[in-house]
Amino acid sequence: MSKPLNIGMIGYGFMGRAHSNAYNRVSNFFELDYHPVLKAVCARSADQVKAFAEKWGYESTETDWRKLIERKDIDAVDICVPNNLHKEIALAAAAAGKIILCEKPLAMNAAEGEEMCQAVEKAKVTNIVWYNYRRVPAVSLAKKLIDDGKLGRIFHYRANFLQDWTISTDLPQGGTALWRLDAAAAGSGVTGDLLAHCIDTAIWLNGGIKDVNAMTETFVKERTHQLTGKVEKVGIDDACTFMCHFDNGSLGLFESTRYARGHKALYTFEINGEHASIKWDLHDLHRLEYFDHRDEGRLRGWRSIHVTDAGGDHPYMDHWWVPGLQIGYEHSFVHQVADFLTGLGKGEPVGPTFRDALETQKICDAVLSSAQKGSWVKLG
Ligand SMILES: NC(=O)c1ccc[n+]([C@@H]2O[C@H](COP(=O)([O-])OP(=O)(O)OC[C@H]3O[C@@H](n4cnc5c(N)ncnc54)[C@H](O)[C@@H]3O)[C@@H](O)[C@H]2O)c1
Repeated sequence: MSKPLNIGMIGYGFMGRAHSNAYNRVSNFFELDYHPVLKAVCARSADQVKAFAEKWGYESTETDWRKLIERKDIDAVDICVPNNLHKEIALAAAAAGKIILCEKPLAMNAAEGEEMCQAVEKAKVTNIVWYNYRRVPAVSLAKKLIDDGKLGRIFHYRANFLQDWTISTDLPQGGTALWRLDAAAAGSGVTGDLLAHCIDTAIWLNGGIKDVNAMTETFVKERTHQLTGKVEKVGIDDACTFMCHFDNGSLGLFESTRYARGHKALYTFEINGEHASIKWDLHDLHRLEYFDHRDEGRLRGWRSIHVTDAGGDHPYMDHWWVPGLQIGYEHSFVHQVADFLTGLGKGEPVGPTFRDALETQKICDAVLSSAQKGSWVKLG
């Protein structure tokens, strides 16, 4: 018999839906020691949060996140709100002894992130950050191939995350749905939002980063703020490109923008090793491209691995359909919940923990600082 884990989720936007879907699905597809119970959801509008609770199966609602944290019947707090609220909620949840699942980026900056790490470590509460791309089966397979030494020594790591939704100069900043354009709510622009994903995947696959050299640009300098109605200076980076050295001696190149016309969520990475290379593309997330120089010459070439084998070779796939049938974006969240609950059952931490995610936060800080100074910045 699996034990209940009572979830209290704060925020019901994009991630609120992705997480709720994962909590609802996970026990149907994974045998786990714990099963999530959708105990309460919190957001500021009483009517809207009630409608959300009914739609997704939450037992109750709150309109003040502090009340949700105070509740004795909540075991785990899931933070799905804009970045400027992560720290305050996490500190309160840790003090109340709750398990914490926090959306990425961990915090507005590394100083806040460090405070959050200390709080969860002092309170000894289990914690995880939703860098969900690690758990796309093709990305998990890339990790296994690298760890098994298939690529040999790694020379290059290249990643892009490209979008085009902020090109219009008429787009306001701030407030509902547009908080990502407001530095006070988001902390930074594409660096904390999109590059943070690329960095988390990169350090998971290829190890730590030693130093960075970055440039950022804010193409639209002023926008009307939705909350104040005034034209205000834009404080976020619209685009960011950086190069870096990894601890293993390989070179990294990262680019992210919201001004790449035609691209909606083009997250790609390519890794070039001594023996083999791999490529992955979020738009085709169930495939991993692989080239192995050691293949017989007349057959050598890029192969496109359809990561859908349920026989145990492809991570997570034996929990889903028959071989050949693919899964999608939402399943990365289901996998994260499954792994998290497995760890909870065993009493073992599951990454990325707050401490793991702090590493990404430090790199984001270094990237922004390098762009500001116009020089290389070393990681501590
Ligand atoms: N893992 C990923 O791939 C991924 C993708 C998107 C967003 N995120 C992260 O998830 C978090 C939320 O992003 P989103 O896209 O879901 O945003 P969103 O704008 O869709 O939703 C934010 C939610 O927070 C609620 N909220 C705001 N202030 C609140 C308060 N004081 N009390 C209670 N609720 C409040 C809003 O009502 C809304 O429901 C951010 O940290 C973001 O970076 C992660």
